[in-house]
Amino acid sequence: MTAEKADAVSVRLSDVPYEVFYLPVTDSTNTRLKAWRRGEAPAGISRGLRNGVCLAAGCQTAGRGRLGRSFLSPGGGLYFSLYLTCASPVEAMGVTAPAAAAVCAALWDLDFEGAMIKWVNDIWYRDRKVCGILCEYTDGGVICGVGINMMPPEGGYPPEAGPAGALGRADLEWKDLLRAVLLRLDAFLKDRGAALDFYRAHQYLRGKNVTVAVGSREIHGKALDVDGEFRLALLTEDGNMLALNCGEVTRVRMADHEG
Ligand code: BTN
Repeated sequence: MTAEKADAVSVRLSDVPYEVFYLPVTDSTNTRLKAWRRGEAPAGISRGLRNGVCLAAGCQTAGRGRLGRSFLSPGGGLYFSLYLTCASPVEAMGVTAPAAAAVCAALWDLDFEGAMIKWVNDIWYRDRKVCGILCEYTDGGVICGVGINMMPPEGGYPPEAGPAGALGRADLEWKDLLRAVLLRLDAFLKDRGAALDFYRAHQYLRGKNVTVAVGSREIHGKALDVDGEFRLALLTEDGNMLALNCGEVTRVRMADHEG
């Protein structure tokens, strides 16, 4: 039996109110949950997808990122997707920022001091991106996919992985990391105010000059904060205040040191 054909195994994580399954290798945990939603459960599971199911993997062969990009997912990472029922795509997108806050808070819980959230939903540690999040709406639910680089691949990250880095703690077990994230996520989804407070206190961009791509438009300005809806408050170069609810920050500079 190859790893790809291995059955999903059930994993117990104490106090976690979600049902967790694990596959050593899969194409993409988001893709697997979408297929499961359509009735194609992973090998070893013979029932439909329910609210609160989490599928984790140790490696993805076709990890997907935001904006149609691929997400490099070698062994040594934690890749998981959580399915939550929800009423609309708008509600689904509301899971993204609390999920970023949850990962960041879990990292602090595990002593990764200095972990920060780069709006909207990347987690940076020691000036490298260590986690990306992709939330997708699917018929009646959101699939919240999280990829965390725990250890770097042999030979380091290839250039196409961009500013990727890893947590770099060999003694950290994926189950302990997953448990910490899911506990924080459950708490933050129940208390969005707490998620917002945490998010605002751990912003990577606050006070920095940034370039944000919104569709085909590029906006230059200073990131001031996020507002109560997790929108980026941006003071543009020409003095306008914007509240951006989506976009990709493509460039970051210290406020007083252009470069
Ligand atoms: C990004 O940074 O562009 C988002 C990356 C999201 C990656 C995670 S890994 C688990 C889940 N499965 C996927 O294929 N993508 C998400």
